[in-house]
Amino acid sequence: MVTPHLVLIGLMGAGKSTVGERCATALARPFVDTDRLVELNAGATVAEIFSTQGEPAFRALERAVVADVSVSPEPLVIACGGGVALDPDNRRALRDHGVVVWLRAEPLELAQRVGSGAGRPLLEGGPGGEAGSPAVKLERLAVLREPAYEAAAHVIVDTDGLAIGAVTDLVLEEYRTWNA
Ligand code: S3P
Repeated sequence: MVTPHLVLIGLMGAGKSTVGERCATALARPFVDTDRLVELNAGATVAEIFSTQGEPAFRALERAVVADVSVSPEPLVIACGGGVALDPDNRRALRDHGVVVWLRAEPLELAQRVGSGAGRPLLEGGPGGEAGSPAVKLERLAVLREPAYEAAAHVIVDTDGLAIGAVTDLVLEEYRTWNA
């Protein structure tokens, strides 16, 4: 049987990249972050892509990256941008080839972790951007996105009040149980 990827989803600030890197080290396998791959392919930052090409163009680039990494024959740890799980094709590809773990946290805690939201276009103000603090925006996104995260996830890990090391241990435990 092919070893599945370990896939991390959830809102901005959930700890997907930090926990993902630690899981990759523990499992001795490559770590990929969909945002970084999109940036590499586009030769521009996520913020630049949003501002010059718009969100739909970013989502198309993101979909291409997800389709690509999902079929990697080498098992990976994949940290997904916060919007990846909203797309049904992305959900299918990731669930077919990986164990999908939703790192869940209360919006207020996420807001503390992301601070001003710098570099995250959906949290920053900007012309034409949505009004409200990162906390308000995260609250709104949490309500809108929870059904998609739930549909994508094999496993949910609640991270509120937990340090990165503890979240990493929980994720690894769930992944190994799922794989056993
Ligand atoms: C987004 C989350 C970001 C990045 C982009 C859009 C989202 O990734 O993909 O700014 O739609 O939630 P992180 O979740 O890694 O911050």
